[in-house]
Amino acid sequence: MSSNQSPAPPVDLADEPRQFAMLLNSVIDYAIYMLDAEGYVRTWNPGGTRIKGYQADEVIGTHFSRFYTPDDVREGVPMRNLRTAETEGRFSADGWRVRRDGSRFLASVVIDPIWNEGRLIGFAKITRDITERHEAEQQLQATHVALFQAQKMEAIGLLTLGLAHDFNNLLTVVINSLDVIGGRTEDKKIARVLETAMRAADRGVLLTRQLLTFGRGQALMAETINLNDLILDNRDLLRRAAADQVDFHMDLAADLPQVAIDRGQFEAAILNLVSNSRDSLPDGGRISIRTFLRHTRLPQEPPQVERPYICTEVTDNGPGIPAEHQARVFEPFFTTKDVGRGSGLGLSQVFGFASQSGGFTELHSPPGGGTTVCICLPVCENP
Ligand SMILES: Nc1ncnc2c1ncn2[C@@H]1O[C@H](COP(=O)(O)OP(=O)(O)OP(=O)(O)O)[C@@H](O)[C@H]1O
Ligand SMILES: [Mg+2]
Repeated sequence: MSSNQSPAPPVDLADEPRQFAMLLNSVIDYAIYMLDAEGYVRTWNPGGTRIKGYQADEVIGTHFSRFYTPDDVREGVPMRNLRTAETEGRFSADGWRVRRDGSRFLASVVIDPIWNEGRLIGFAKITRDITERHEAEQQLQATHVALFQAQKMEAIGLLTLGLAHDFNNLLTVVINSLDVIGGRTEDKKIARVLETAMRAADRGVLLTRQLLTFGRGQALMAETINLNDLILDNRDLLRRAAADQVDFHMDLAADLPQVAIDRGQFEAAILNLVSNSRDSLPDGGRISIRTFLRHTRLPQEPPQVERPYICTEVTDNGPGIPAEHQARVFEPFFTTKDVGRGSGLGLSQVFGFASQSGGFTELHSPPGGGTTVCICLPVCENP
C-alpha cells in the first residue's frame, strides 16, 4: 500500500455480522448463499458470481432451480434436494448445473437447513465448481487404461514374437524338405500333394509374418511417403475389397505432410480394415476412408506431449463391436468369425504396424453406431 493512501478503517471485532459479510465477500472459490424455505435466493457472494455468472441483483429473489438443468427441473430435483436437507439434516452431492451463459459445470453441492426455534427458515447452500478436477480425473483414468492396454499388448507381443520365430524356423525346414522331395520325384500324384503342402506352408509363412509384425520382430522398410498418394494408388484394390453392394467413399485432406513408414505394411493395414468393415456389412452399407492431420499424443503419454500425426480412418455403418470385445480385438487370434473365415490377425497387424512406426491405433464403436478404426502415424520430422 502506498504511503499517501489512508489506511482502511479498523474492523470492529465485536461487529459479528460485518465480519461475516466480509468473510463471504472474500470467498471466490465457493458460491455461498442463503435460500428461504421455498428455495428463493436471499443472499449472494462473489464466489456465486464467479462460478455461476450471475450478479447479486439479477439473482436475489429468484428461485434457485434456475441453476439446475431443464431435465432436473422437470423431475423436481431442486425441491427434492431441499426436502432431503430438511428431513435428513443435510444434502450433499455432485451434479451438473447450468451457468448464466447456458454452459454446464460439475458442482459439488452442500445444502444445510437453517432452523429458528424449531421452525425452518431457509437453507445455507455451498457450491463448488469441480469440473476441472473431474476432467483431470477422467484424463488420468483414460491414461491408466491406455497404459494398462499398452503393457498387455507388449506382453502378448513378446510371447507372439517367440512363437513366430520358432514357427518360422520350423516352416523353413518344412519348405526346404518339400523342395528337396519335389526335386526328386517324377510321380505326378505326389507332385500334386507336394503342391498342396507347399501352399499350406506358404500360408503359414504369411501368418508368421503377420505375427512378427505384431510382435515387432519384422524389420520395417521405412520410406518417406504421402499417405494420400499411397491410398489413391490402392484405390481399385480397396474398392474391390469393399465389395459391390457397399458404398465406398474417400475423403482425403489436402496438403498432408509426409510420414516415414513401410509402404507394404500400410497397404496391408488399410486392406485389413476395409476387409473387416466389408465382413461386417454382408447386406451392404457404407465404408469410408478419411485422412486428416491431428495434433495429439500417444494414449499412454501425459497430455503435454502433443505432436502432429497423420490419421487414416476407416469407418463403416455395420453393427459395431460389442463393448466386451473392444479391449481384445487387437490381440492376435481374437476372432468372432467362423473357423476358416478369420484368423484374428488382421487388427493385430494394424496395431503392430502402427506402434512400430511410432504411432497408435484408436477404435470407436458405440453401440449400434458402426465402427471406426483410426491409424495415427507421426509426421516425418526430417522430410
Ligand atoms: N469393422 C468391424 N465391425 C465389426 N466387428 C469388427 C470390425 N473389425 C473387427 N471386428 C471384430 O474384431 C475381430 C478381430 O478382427 P481381426 O481383423 O483382427 O480378425 P478377423 O477379421 O476375425 O480375422 P483376419 O483379419 O485375420 O482374417 C473380428 O473377428 C470381429 O469380431
Ligand atoms: Mg480382419
